[in-house]
Amino acid sequence: MRTILVVNAKGGSGKTTLATTLAGYYAAEGARVALADFDPQGSSIDWLRVRPDSAPKIHGVEAHARGLRVPRSTEIVVMDAPASSHGDALAALLRRAQTAIVPVVPSALDIRAAQRLFAEMRELRPLVRNDVRIATIANRVRESARQTEDLEDFLMDLKLPSGRRFPFLTWIRQSNHYLKAAEKGLSIFEFSPLATTADREYWQPLLRWLASPRSVPGDAA
Ligand SMILES: Nc1ncnc2c1ncn2[C@@H]1O[C@H](COP(=O)(O)OP(=O)(O)O)[C@@H](O)[C@H]1O
Ligand SMILES: [Mg+2]
Repeated sequence: MRTILVVNAKGGSGKTTLATTLAGYYAAEGARVALADFDPQGSSIDWLRVRPDSAPKIHGVEAHARGLRVPRSTEIVVMDAPASSHGDALAALLRRAQTAIVPVVPSALDIRAAQRLFAEMRELRPLVRNDVRIATIANRVRESARQTEDLEDFLMDLKLPSGRRFPFLTWIRQSNHYLKAAEKGLSIFEFSPLATTADREYWQPLLRWLASPRSVPGDAA
């Protein structure tokens, strides 16, 4: 079973947007997907509640209350982390995941918060021990913004204790399609491809990485 965690201690960085979009993407591809909401606010579960019956099924798990119980047949679990995941709670989330994706918004405040998060994740490594593969993406990016450059510089420079970098995979554009998708319980991958071509393109490096052995522990890469 493939386990993918979307995590960042900062609220509003796009965790739920990323988690629901990935869940919708894999479901549209025909996979058996569970969406595990670790946030007591329950935004991912709310998204599932408005999801049309005609859309590919996604199994919702209120993991914050009931733990991570998924049907046996589940192929992919996407986990949506709460804001302010720190310390033991953060370690517990990372321990459950093969792969963690950290969305960061290009603002000075968010970049500073992300610096603290990455420092904390390094400290937690001895506690986590499952060699979870971590990558970053920039979210809500307006191409012209100067802050995007600051974010890229920062994300490109992140290193693991081994000297290996956290891969910085892609930018996700600021786009109303995500707002519309959130409203309808759908993902941009379930909208007309023509209308969402530009948005979809930015997802490709992330989707490719997730499909490659590099994003799964145990690989030598
Ligand atoms: N790429 C994007 N373009 C436009 N709006 C976005 C984008 N990513 C997130 N948002 C919006 O920003 C807000 C916060 O995103 P959300 O995914 O709920 O963050 P988190 O779960 O980290 O708190 C939501 O209203 C969401 O619709
Ligand atoms: Mg959220």
